[in-house]
Amino acid sequence: MFERLREDINSVFDRDPAARNAFEIVITYPGLHAVLLHRAAHALWLHGYKLPARMLSNVARLFTGIEIHPGAQIGRRFFIDHGMGVVIGETAVIGDDCTLYHGVTLGGTSWQKGKRHPTLGRDVVVGAGAKVLGPIDIGEGARIGSNAVVVKSVPRSGTVVGVPGRVIESSTDPTSQRRADTAKRIGFDAYGAVRDAPDPVANAINRMLDHIHIMDRRMEAMSRALEEHGITRHFEHLDDLDGCGIDPVLPDSGQSKQAYTNTTGMAESE
Ligand SMILES: CC(C)(COP(=O)(O)OP(=O)(O)OC[C@H]1O[C@@H](n2cnc3c(N)ncnc32)[C@H](O)[C@@H]1OP(=O)(O)O)[C@@H](O)C(=O)NCCC(=O)NCCS
Repeated sequence: MFERLREDINSVFDRDPAARNAFEIVITYPGLHAVLLHRAAHALWLHGYKLPARMLSNVARLFTGIEIHPGAQIGRRFFIDHGMGVVIGETAVIGDDCTLYHGVTLGGTSWQKGKRHPTLGRDVVVGAGAKVLGPIDIGEGARIGSNAVVVKSVPRSGTVVGVPGRVIESSTDPTSQRRADTAKRIGFDAYGAVRDAPDPVANAINRMLDHIHIMDRRMEAMSRALEEHGITRHFEHLDDLDGCGIDPVLPDSGQSKQAYTNTTGMAESE
């Protein structure tokens, strides 16, 4: 029991830079209190004492703001940071070394009995406010971005953002190496989002702008050739699109780049 408690305290140290000492963690971390009380409630639940188990989980909820159904299966070194507003359903399964932030729901989407809540693999991070709904699988090492609503399974090492959640990186994605490198550089990739994680909407818009830009240049060259050969008399030249792109935020300074540079790496002469 003390071994598990030591593990729990160490996992707070590993994942919360604000943690100062073991005594402070034991006294002031509601995530730790909720996990300890859940262990007792889960044991009661497994031994058939369902009502006392529910009562104990309600007491935990009253003091911590974290609602964990006593039937939920939770692995080792589970850490809930901040805690308030977390809901974990009865048939949820959480692997070892997972981290949740405040406002996370591991909920169901149906009123049918049976498995209706998610299963989280090892080392999953679910960002603040995210909702993971239904009997879906979240693969080992996956990261769920803050406020994402995930209703479909996520592959191993996948990163999901948005509503509904979209996978923006997976273990087969070459960018996952960059994520691993960044996580190594900054330490634990807190909140499930590394600082240079791509914004898929901005990326898509910037790629379209690149294409429009290249098409403009080609049209311009063709129009000039037509003018030179006297085929058209006058061609109205359009304004340039330079500067229309969505500026990425610089990872270190937190400031916008002054001008958008061609993110797709396509040369204008293409
Ligand atoms: C919105 C909701 C009612 C839809 O249920 P449904 O009719 O069974 O819908 P499906 O699961 O078939 O999904 C239909 C589409 O909506 C999307 N979708 C589902 N739930 C969504 C949500 N909450 N937000 C955004 N999109 C959602 C799905 O991705 C799917 O998109 P696709 O057609 O492009 O693949 C349900 O998913 C939901 O969010 N229920 C609330 C559950 C909840 O709050 N539980 C908490 C328990 S503690």
